[in-house]
Formats: sequence, structure tokens, C-alpha cells
Amino acid sequence: MTSNRLSLDRGSGRPLYRQLREALEHEIAAGQLDPRRPLPSSRELSRELGISRNTVNTAYQELEAEGFVEAQPRRGLFVNREMLGEIRRGTAAAIPTGPVNWTAHLNESPDRSLAEIAKIPDWHRYPYPFVAGQVDSSSFPRLAWLRALREALEPPHLHFSLRDGIDEDDPELVDQLCRHVLPARGIEVDPDHVMITLGSQQGLDLLAHTLLGPGSVVGVEEPGYLDARHIFLRAGAQLRPFRVDGSGLVPPDELAGVALLHLTPSHHSPSNVTLSIARRRQLLAMAQRDDTLLVEDDYDSEFRYQGSPTPALKALPDNERVIYLGTFSKFLAPGIRLGYLVAAPALVAELRRQRRYRVRHASGHIQRAMALLIESGQYHRTVRRRRTNLARRWSTLRDSLQEHLAWPVDPPPGGVSIWLPGPPGLDCVELSDRAAAHGVVIERGDIYFTDPARHRNFIRLGFAALPLSQIEPGVAVLARLAREQLGG
Ligand SMILES: Cc1ncc(COP(=O)(O)O)c(C=O)c1O
Repeated sequence: MTSNRLSLDRGSGRPLYRQLREALEHEIAAGQLDPRRPLPSSRELSRELGISRNTVNTAYQELEAEGFVEAQPRRGLFVNREMLGEIRRGTAAAIPTGPVNWTAHLNESPDRSLAEIAKIPDWHRYPYPFVAGQVDSSSFPRLAWLRALREALEPPHLHFSLRDGIDEDDPELVDQLCRHVLPARGIEVDPDHVMITLGSQQGLDLLAHTLLGPGSVVGVEEPGYLDARHIFLRAGAQLRPFRVDGSGLVPPDELAGVALLHLTPSHHSPSNVTLSIARRRQLLAMAQRDDTLLVEDDYDSEFRYQGSPTPALKALPDNERVIYLGTFSKFLAPGIRLGYLVAAPALVAELRRQRRYRVRHASGHIQRAMALLIESGQYHRTVRRRRTNLARRWSTLRDSLQEHLAWPVDPPPGGVSIWLPGPPGLDCVELSDRAAAHGVVIERGDIYFTDPARHRNFIRLGFAALPLSQIEPGVAVLARLAREQLGG
């Protein structure tokens, strides 16, 4: 090799080792280096080129890493004959470059034509964020949670916080749920009926992949929880919508052919109506007859502002086919991603196996901290405080809507959002855009229906994430924009 062929440009600003590597690559590709003879040692080459040995070594290391040269023990570096062959055959140069065509790699998702709940990521910066599914972080029991997290790192809890639980949950959290949380919903079960989830969403996903297959029919409430629809469709299922009125889902004549029926009996999502006791019994009997499984999504049952919460569907006799989903998302915070599922032990065991090969289990540390939070009584204190707090917000929002809106409003006394059917001329899509431009974040209601285009006069106002004092002024702005839209 002659070093005068290797010209390095010190003034170019490009690192010398890179210039040297590229020059050597070029020499190899052009067949200028004899593969039977070793490359000059770094000492020789650095002297010839007047550069440091480090620079030569770095260039050599990269050439070796890329396969242009190979080290032979005690003989030195040689041009890699295989690479030379490839270069001569043109195969090395034929490897196409450029961006990956991801569309060709990604599976087509079966829910692609279904709308998604669009969240404004910086909702907390708006003065009037009537968002659903979020909480006001000032009401989170920060100190108690911090204490629980710290205690969970002390023996004897440390082991459970750190271990690989494989398909198990924290036995202490399951025990606390069985003794202190589920009985409040009328559910008395042994630990083998309970599984911890990363929130209801994961419960739904595991159920979908365990119980459904391509073509399975899933009954859903109409309007209904959009994320559940996505999950079922993604598992290959078909949706059969069932109408909801002021007493919850209207029982059809039969459920034959429906593998699973998703229900929000305590507070229907999104309207918050409660499924009547008569209909619960009717649906349970029908499910028994037609062999349909019922999924009870009990995401915010404690938030009832008049009267007491109705017991769970899972608390009725003959409830084996009811699969109960609970979550800490509404009572504590959705970001903690923790929930629970109650079902027959045979199903729980299979769901645990499904979960094992997906995410293994929820964080042991978070599970143990939650167990300690419940045991200390702080969890129940937080739920009570939050209920009082939300009751105030609910009545303020209802009163403000009744005062400012030009149409009657009579929401059921529960939940963490108010569902507003508007007059036929109301257009939630345009209104939500205009409202956001005026600092008011609201949710469009059309997307909760199978046919959104025919339901543009519905909006949803969450009230858990904004300060009480912002509710009335926010409603005043919204009402003015709605009046303008309706031409009043
Ligand atoms: C009907 C329904 N179920 C469950 C949840 C909570 O889901 P997760 O527990 O996954 O946070 C929500 C939250 O918005 C909901 O609206």
C-alpha cells in the first residue's frame, strides 16, 4: 500500500480517522490492497501519514467492525476475502439503502376505521379543562403514597417489591382487596378469584385475547366506552351494539351468539345512568340461558352523589359468568396503572398465563405500596375525601349548566363527567374546536356512537381535573359559544 494514495484533508473539518477509514474502504473496494499481505501496522501508517497511532487504530477498528478487514492472530490485519468476493460479485453494493417501508411490516389493525378519544396533551395548561379520565393532581395523597412507597422498600416488604413474581401478584394486595375493597361492592371472594391488572384496559385486553377469536361477537353498550371497542376489534371480534336508555342497557330478546357482553352497570359510560336491578336480573338470566359471559366494568362506582352506590352485578346470586373489573384510576390516579379483576379461578389462572407472556405482572413495588396504603386506612380516607370533593364539583357543574345553557339538563347523580345531549343543531366537533380556542377543553360525544355522523349533538364534560372555582366561568364561556353556534 502506498500512503501517497491515501490523501487526508486536514482543513476539511471532518475527523481524520473517518477520512482514513473511507480512503481504506475505497482502496479495498477498488482491489488495490493485496489480501495476501497484512495492512501496515498502525505505527508504520501513522508515521507515513504524519497522524497519531490512535487515529489509525480507530479507523482500523471500524473497518474490522464493518467486516472490511479481519485480524489474524500474530500476523496482523488482512483484507477480508469474503467481503472482497461480495464486492466483486456486486452483492455488497446491491444492498439497498434508504428508509424502512414500515407499512409493509405493520399488521393492518382491524379497528382502524373506529374513531379514537382525542386527548389534548397539554390540557392542564388550559383554564377550563373539562377533560374526562384525568384527575386533579392536588387531590392525590402524595405524602401517604410516598410513605407507602418507602415502607414497601423495607423488610419484610422489600422481597415482594423486587422479586420476579412470574405469573403471581402481590399476595398482600390481593388479600387487602378481598378483605377491605371488594366487600364494599358486595363481593366476597377468596384470593384465587382475584388478579391484579395494569388498569381495566389490561383486564379487557387479556379477556379479549383469552376468550375471543376472529369472528366472536361482543355485545357493547350504545353509546359506549370507545377504548373497549378498540380492544375487542383488535382481538378480531365483531361488535354488536345494544341501546342504552335512562335505566341502562335495554335487554334484547336474546343473547344467543354473543360470546361476551361489556357493561358499565354502576354508571354507564358515557351517560352515567345506572342499570336497574330488574334489568340486571334479566340480563344475568339471559346470559345464563345463552351462555354469554358478562364483563362488569365498575370503574367509578364509589362516585355516587345522592343515595348509596348500587351493589355490583358480581354481588348478585349465580354470578359465576360475571367478570368484574375494578380500577384505582378514578379513586387515586390513572397514571399509577393499577386495577383488579375478579372471576372464576379457572379463568383467573389462564389470564395470569396470558399476562405472564405479555407484561409478566404489575410492578411489585407499586402493588406492595398500594397494599400498605389500603391497610393504613389512607386509601379509604382518600376515596371518601374525593367523593365529597367530586360531589361538590358535580353539583356546581350541574347548576352552572342549568343556569347558562339554553336547553334542559338533568344528569344522573354519579360519575366523574356529565353527558350532555344537546339540541339537534349543536355540532360537538365544531364546538370543541372553538371552545379549545377560548380555553375550554370539552370532549366530543359523537365518537361514542357506532354512527358518529348522526350524533354530533352530544358533548361530555369531565369535572375531576379542574378546580371547583373554574367550573362556573368555564361553563359560561361554553354556553356563550353554544348559543352562538345555535344562532340564539
Ligand atoms: C368505562 C371505563 N372503564 C375503565 C376506565 C379506566 O381504565 P383504566 O383502569 O385502564 O385506567 C375508564 C376510564 O376512562 C372508563 O371510562
